[in-house]
Amino acid sequence: MSDILIIGQHGQVSTYLQREMIALDNVKVAGRDEIDLSQVDLVYSALEAIEPKLIINPAAYTAVDAAEQEREQAFAINSLAVGEIARYAKDYDVPLIHFSTDYVFTGDSDVPYSENSSVGPNGVYGQSKLEGEKAILDSGASALILRTAWVYSNHGNNFYKTMLRLSEQRTELNVVNDQIGAPTYAGSIAAVTKQLVDLILEQGGLKPEQVGVYHFTCQGQTSWAEFARAIFVENEITEMAVHGIPTSEYPTPAQRPAFSVLNTEKLLDVFDVSLPHWGTALSQCVAETRSVIDERLR
Ligand SMILES: NC(=O)c1ccc[n+]([C@@H]2O[C@H](COP(=O)([O-])OP(=O)(O)OC[C@H]3O[C@@H](n4cnc5c(N)ncnc54)[C@H](OP(=O)(O)O)[C@@H]3O)[C@@H](O)[C@H]2O)c1
Repeated sequence: MSDILIIGQHGQVSTYLQREMIALDNVKVAGRDEIDLSQVDLVYSALEAIEPKLIINPAAYTAVDAAEQEREQAFAINSLAVGEIARYAKDYDVPLIHFSTDYVFTGDSDVPYSENSSVGPNGVYGQSKLEGEKAILDSGASALILRTAWVYSNHGNNFYKTMLRLSEQRTELNVVNDQIGAPTYAGSIAAVTKQLVDLILEQGGLKPEQVGVYHFTCQGQTSWAEFARAIFVENEITEMAVHGIPTSEYPTPAQRPAFSVLNTEKLLDVFDVSLPHWGTALSQCVAETRSVIDERLR
């Protein structure tokens, strides 16, 4: 038996959650060898074998472009398997924390999306994540669905690490400047999720009025080009010119939302917590980058 189960082992959010939870007793991390979300029929029995008392699911099929070709796999992992996790959570009365995405929205807005804004995913990834949200809501499980966006960190594949890698090879970069969002450090996601976990443990579960969808990003907004410039400034990389380009000059198989800023007031109203401003979080990530480098040099 395990009290807190984190599904997915090496993902960005999972990695930082594990760091946050390290001091807690009885936290279990299930990798694909134990819970393979693509094996939908086996998910429920795998959970029965573990007997978690609280489930956190940061695992997902996150390859946004590949999803356009791998629709079945994306839906299996992001919606059907999530339905099985929710069914277990309902049957065994176990609270569930699940992560979703800004890609449930079209991106046509110019004001931050609230949890009540109409959804309309542009591509397969967003559709599959939205179906996962619906499966949880339909199950009646006691769940928090945390929609995050533009996740980056010192771990895994993400925009922050790509910029640092490219800075070693080039002195000029073209970066999209007409997509607007809130870069969100996985460390910030994990820190605030830990606060929610503490509250759930203290309360002995979620109150009915706490259950539902929450927007869960860092504060503020910027473009990818401005974010890239901030990454270089914070990392004291001076030999790099960032040229802003329109999305039309950087076509991708899956369409990205042009505007994906999420209004996070509900999280503050209900739980009295919030993620930091994206600039503050970036400084924290850079401090971590430096400590990782220092560690290597030691
Ligand atoms: N990255 C973003 O920019 C972004 C934006 C908005 C929302 N989100 C959402 O935030 C959450 C966390 O994202 P992330 O950036 O941490 O994702 P990530 O780094 O891509 O990690 C994905 C995780 O899912 C696990 N996984 C994938 N297929 C699996 C399978 N068949 N069975 C079991 N586990 C499987 C991976 O397992 P392994 O450990 O074996 O690799 C990994 O732990 C996801 O729900 C994602 O949809 C992410």
